[in-house]
Amino acid sequence: MAILVLGGAGYIGSHMVDLLVQKKEDVVVVDNLSYGHRQAVPESVPFYQGDVRDHDFLEQVFTQHDIEAVFHFCAYIQVPESVVKPNDYFDNNVVGLISLINVMKNHQVKKLIFSSSAAVYGTPERVPIKEDDAKDPINPYGLTKLMMEQIMRWDGAAYEMQWLAFRYFNVAGARLDGNLGEDHRPETHLIPIVLQAALGQREHVEMCGNDYQTRDGYNVRDYVHVLDLVQAHYFGLEYLRQGGQSDYFNIGSKQGFTVKEIVEAARRVTGVNIKAIDAPRRGGDPDSLVADSTKIRTDLGWQSPHTDIDTIISSAWNWLQKHPNGYSK
Ligand code: NAD
Ligand code: UFG
Repeated sequence: MAILVLGGAGYIGSHMVDLLVQKKEDVVVVDNLSYGHRQAVPESVPFYQGDVRDHDFLEQVFTQHDIEAVFHFCAYIQVPESVVKPNDYFDNNVVGLISLINVMKNHQVKKLIFSSSAAVYGTPERVPIKEDDAKDPINPYGLTKLMMEQIMRWDGAAYEMQWLAFRYFNVAGARLDGNLGEDHRPETHLIPIVLQAALGQREHVEMCGNDYQTRDGYNVRDYVHVLDLVQAHYFGLEYLRQGGQSDYFNIGSKQGFTVKEIVEAARRVTGVNIKAIDAPRRGGDPDSLVADSTKIRTDLGWQSPHTDIDTIISSAWNWLQKHPNGYSK
């Protein structure tokens, strides 16, 4: 039976496909390439270009392959864009999930692993954040993730489907050989932006907001290596195969870094004196987002061997140096 990776041509999805291939699983990828890159998926993996909201298209994929489980990575992900185009996010993310579950139901596919986000917590009451802490998203992107979790909960109960919602904190890094990595367009994430400045592709980095309630005034995020993250998904798949129950898990490191600390770490790793200037807050950014990931470590046996900030940054730096134009020739 095959594992279907939706959004498998994107940043995290392509690393997931890579791990599943290494594990000798049968993999099928669906991606509409709105943001993904065909080159990020090996030629040997069956690839279908299409939209998760297209019921007939998805029916065809599920008819052609005997699907055991689905990994769902296909969402719009830009928080500021979600504030100005909320319906695009409700449509792509929420409607997309409903469309998927309807087809899974038709084909009796019972396992779903879903990319949720720390954005479901909004401005947290405390850090590190635990799974049961209050959820109150402060932007439409985070709301779509919370709505999707709730849809899975009710649909899972009604259709006897097991699901896992992984709430990622800040995902970064790349495959260690530098041949698979992050190529978001536009790039909005801090670490690739800082490294683009190190490579001379940007004049400077803007550190957005220096008056947060944190140790140095810059906001704090919890960075997890993409390789550790996809490994967590594989543990999740094994857990569901063994009859594990539907659940929510935070995925982070329990250690937060401020924006300034990330710039300093990138200077250390690259040896480049990256120029960084203070800029206004972006809006909608909580002071600190740090995960308590005890639950996934205890329940799924997850470990995070690469989640040291210098390892994360060096792997992203290796990717960028080898692929300064990302997947473009
Ligand atoms: P990405 O944009 O690189 O990947 C998403 C992929 O889904 C893209 O290849 C895109 O073309 C595809 N896609 C989008 N809408 C689709 C649709 N309707 N039909 C078919 N394909 C579609 O993003 P990413 O960084 O790899 O994120 C993957 C998932 O992880 C997302 O759900 C995101 O919300 C979640 N997440 C990411 C982070 C992070 O730090 N990158 C943090 C928390 C959660
Ligand atoms: N930042 C800057 N300058 C930049 C870019 C970012 O100062 O040029 C700051 C942001 O203000 C924030 C931090 O760097 O404090 C990290 O920003 P990212 O854009 O890299 O990541 P976010 O924390 O905004 O969001 C990411 C994912 C979301 C996910 C969230 C969960 O993009 O999908 O982590 O923590 F929901």
